[in-house]
Amino acid sequence: MVRRVPHLKLQDLVTKIFVGAGCSEQEASEVSEHLVDSNLVGHDSHGVIRVATYVNWLEKKMVFANREPKVVLDEGALAILDGRLGLGQVIAARATDLAIEKATKHGIGVVGLRNSGHIGRVGAWAHRVARAGKVAVCFVNTTGFGLLTAPHGGTDRRISANPFAVGVPNPGGVDFIFDISTSTIAEGKIRVAFHRGEKVPDGCILDGEGKPTNDPEKFYADPGSILPFGGHKGYGMALAVDILAGALIGASCSRPGVPQLEQGMLIIVVDPERAQSREVFAEEVARFLEFVKASPKASPDTEILAPGDIEERNRSQRIADGIELDDKTWAELLATCESVGIDKDAAMRTIESQAPAP
Ligand SMILES: NC(=O)c1ccc[n+]([C@@H]2O[C@H](COP(=O)([O-])OP(=O)(O)OC[C@H]3O[C@@H](n4cnc5c(N)ncnc54)[C@H](O)[C@@H]3O)[C@@H](O)[C@H]2O)c1
Repeated sequence: MVRRVPHLKLQDLVTKIFVGAGCSEQEASEVSEHLVDSNLVGHDSHGVIRVATYVNWLEKKMVFANREPKVVLDEGALAILDGRLGLGQVIAARATDLAIEKATKHGIGVVGLRNSGHIGRVGAWAHRVARAGKVAVCFVNTTGFGLLTAPHGGTDRRISANPFAVGVPNPGGVDFIFDISTSTIAEGKIRVAFHRGEKVPDGCILDGEGKPTNDPEKFYADPGSILPFGGHKGYGMALAVDILAGALIGASCSRPGVPQLEQGMLIIVVDPERAQSREVFAEEVARFLEFVKASPKASPDTEILAPGDIEERNRSQRIADGIELDDKTWAELLATCESVGIDKDAAMRTIESQAPAP
């Protein structure tokens, strides 16, 4: 059965869970808001499905509550932060805000973030910048624990999903948010399929013997690996992301033997107003997107979209209709409630006051 849950109730429950797990109210609500927002925009892979894992990592001291990043370097437009294995949703927000602040002052802000907990949906950080009227490019890598992706031509896990995102403000329409992993499919989406008992599309994953499979169970049991998108192109991009978010900022690229998931992010924020007025930039972006979308459609049922459009459409729909949760994710949330001392029945009563989805 799939439940449909109002997003604010879900956010409230997830906040309580993180408070129960030792986070301050402020931290818990920041993490919760990020996770529920990922569900709202349609990226369930980076939504509340992560709660059980994050709480488990807190318990195992693979990540730590209530940590702020430490400034390693602050020199003009450039800063390096050490995330000290704090919760990535909070640590990445601080890195993003610092890059925005630097771009306001210098025209450009470049912040390297090392040693952070999982920073979640990267598009959220690109969008935070676009909402501040600036342009963002974000590169994110993972060290050790997060090895997932095979090299082009290879058959086992050597790199991670290495996402990157670009955010551009589009004040007259929907902000341009291009936000992808360089693997054919984000690991979280394999997990979502696994929870729902579904297969993943052809050409995405290999089993533990390096053979193509559609079965998420084989990916987790063997374990298998994910293929980079677009053959050598996505593979090259994955390596570039790893070097930019790892070695360049004095952190590590993908490497085995690290006992916890550590993420690095290089975020570059540029103030478009340094090159022209805000209005001229906005007009050109809007004109360009409109021109591209006016292409004759490949078939009557095709829609030409810009990156970011689907997410905003999902957000409106899910705010109105609620967020769908499958049985396994719901059961995990309830088990996590119990593990942090929240009465499971009370949590269920609060959240199930809206009818299940048909
Ligand atoms: N923190 C991490 O380590 C990590 C790792 C991997 C992925 N992620 C996150 O997982 C999420 C999912 O990644 P993914 O690779 O599965 O993304 P995806 O394949 O769903 O692609 C999403 C992007 O494509 C755009 N898009 C989708 N359909 C479109 C269309 N028809 N026309 C134009 N644009 C379209 C979306 O607007 C969005 O920008 C992302 O938010 C990413 O940041 C995070």
